[in-house]
Amino acid sequence: MPVTAPVLCKRIPTPPWGDPRDRHVVAYDEYVKTGGYQNLEKALDMEPAAIVAQVKDSMLRGRGGAGFPCGLKWTFLPPPDGGRRYLAVNCDEAEPGTFKDRLLCDFDPHLMLEGIAIACYACQLDTAYFFIRDEYRHEIDVVENAIREAYDHGIFGKRGLLKGKKKFTVECYLHRSAGAYICGEETGLLEAIEGKRAWPRVKPPFPAVKGLFGRPTIVNNVETLAAVVPIIEHGAAWWKTMGCESTLPGGMPSYGPKLMGVSGHVNRPGCYEVDLGIPLSKLVNDYCGGMRNGKKFKGAIAGGVSMGILGPYQFDAEMDFDIGRKYDVMGLGTACPTVFDEDTDMIAVCRNIARFFMRESCGQCTPCREGSAWMYKLLLRIEAGDATSKDLDLLLELAGSQGIIPGTTICGLADGNNWAVRTIVNKYREEFEARVKPTIIPVVEARMKPAISRPVTHVSVGAT
Ligand SMILES: Cc1cc2nc3c(=O)[nH]c(=O)nc-3n(C[C@H](O)[C@H](O)[C@H](O)COP(=O)(O)O)c2cc1C
Ligand code: SF4
Repeated sequence: MPVTAPVLCKRIPTPPWGDPRDRHVVAYDEYVKTGGYQNLEKALDMEPAAIVAQVKDSMLRGRGGAGFPCGLKWTFLPPPDGGRRYLAVNCDEAEPGTFKDRLLCDFDPHLMLEGIAIACYACQLDTAYFFIRDEYRHEIDVVENAIREAYDHGIFGKRGLLKGKKKFTVECYLHRSAGAYICGEETGLLEAIEGKRAWPRVKPPFPAVKGLFGRPTIVNNVETLAAVVPIIEHGAAWWKTMGCESTLPGGMPSYGPKLMGVSGHVNRPGCYEVDLGIPLSKLVNDYCGGMRNGKKFKGAIAGGVSMGILGPYQFDAEMDFDIGRKYDVMGLGTACPTVFDEDTDMIAVCRNIARFFMRESCGQCTPCREGSAWMYKLLLRIEAGDATSKDLDLLLELAGSQGIIPGTTICGLADGNNWAVRTIVNKYREEFEARVKPTIIPVVEARMKPAISRPVTHVSVGAT
């Protein structure tokens, strides 16, 4: 069954159900009048383990990029030992082309705060850090104000959750990101909250066991936490009526609605709430009013630049968590596609993305630090028409040798660079080959005197 009514956008007018011009910040009073915090009340009548079981049963997959099952992650926590336990709420949203968490911050901050309170109670976490992208200045004000309202109305703070209904105390702090992409990587984020440079940590240990200040910590994306609220309200079975089953043998399903922010060459860019598994062409045609100026589709970043590109023949790709294995991209990522029309220079796209990764590399791992700069230089050369076909091979070799998947780096930033560059070069190979010169390898005269003297010649390899 498809999404027939808005779930996360219940209070945020969004097409096809509402007009974005009617949007406004839903303050505490309005949130409560429209059923807000009733699910926290309901959750507090349940045992924490029962909430974890319900979220696990819903098979809610993380909305931050990797699609890891949320309930399963919660079960990795060790039992409480009387010491501090943390929730790190990831609202860094620095992935280029991604603007879905921002929608929640802009208009319905209490939905996220209710999800945070439920998650803290379910996992017995006493401190939540709402880690938000520094450039989101307006959103910082909105969320800070909502946190203040939540304290004033006894959601967080000394009295205990929900005006002391449960004597379990949760403190919630807003923490502004240091403003680098790497701050969104879960362990980089933990370092940043600790006041250090956001250098990702070597794993294991994983944050659930040893996270913030060495204590058990859950890191979740804000959209994931917001989704916990309707799951508590309507149950796991209801959640599973939306989205789709896996189409791969033994694959994990992609249930529920998803916020998808579409940008690029479409008529109505914006953030829409749709079923996981919606074909990209349907998202573009039915929700975004089709391709801009009636141009042809040339490709789309799958969900944030790290995921790589869907090529010209992949317009109908289903936007679910199986997309990676089916369409040769890394994964669904943030599910925020950037769409390109037929006039787009894919070499410029590739160069632009490579520059982003070069600038955002934290520098700890050599393949990422050195490789990203090298790749960017090669792409500049290719774009200018000064490269040879050998440079193209070198570019692919450099891309394929960096990341967690080849096992050469600490974090997934380098995988993003790898997948973006490799998939763009592979899916638009002719465009790249048309821009490079053939490689000329001079044949040097042999040292030994040849029996018959041959003229020195040149051999061309690769594209002609
Ligand atoms: C370089 C990099 C940047 C990331 N940036 C974000 C981000 O801005 N927001 C986010 O939620 N997850 C981001 N992630 C994913 C997080 O590491 C982590 O998987 C996620 O916050 C877990 O939440 P979830 O299980 O609810 O999806 C990033 C990962 C990498 C490798
Ligand atoms: S892969 Fe890159 S960003 Fe990640 S830790 Fe290594 S150098 Fe830093």
